[in-house]
Amino acid sequence: MKHKILALISAITLAASANVAFAGDVAAGKAKSAACAACHGAKGISAVPMYPNLAGQKETYTIKQMKAFKDKVRIDPTMNAMMAPLSDADMANLAAYYASLK
Ligand code: HEC
Repeated sequence: MKHKILALISAITLAASANVAFAGDVAAGKAKSAACAACHGAKGISAVPMYPNLAGQKETYTIKQMKAFKDKVRIDPTMNAMMAPLSDADMANLAAYYASLK
């Protein structure tokens, strides 16, 4: 029982610190998003059927997809190229920005 409580406490602590590490900066993400707007729309709603909307998407999912494009686990020549120069912080900021939109 004592061990379970300790494990729970360390899990919560880990989760909390992970949140801090991944907390994106919305303003920085907005600044970076200029390069994305041509396809994904100025407010994350795309005017073109081929390009997905990003507004309101879950932050964690968006980060996962961006990393998958960067690592070429998810293949799309355009997005693979778009993600290549981005750092983890850039991706976290962009994801926070799009998650903040409706
Ligand atoms: C030239 C057009 C273009 C630009 C510029 C572009 N994207 Fe994309 N993006 C796409 C296309 C096309 C897809 C869908 C790829 C596929 O079919 O897998 C996509 C997919 C995505 C996805 C996955 C969405 C989902 O629901 O799975 C994310 C996240 C994303 N883009 C983020 C970005 C960000 C952030 C930028 C700017 C740094 C950006 N894109 C710039 C065309 C673009």
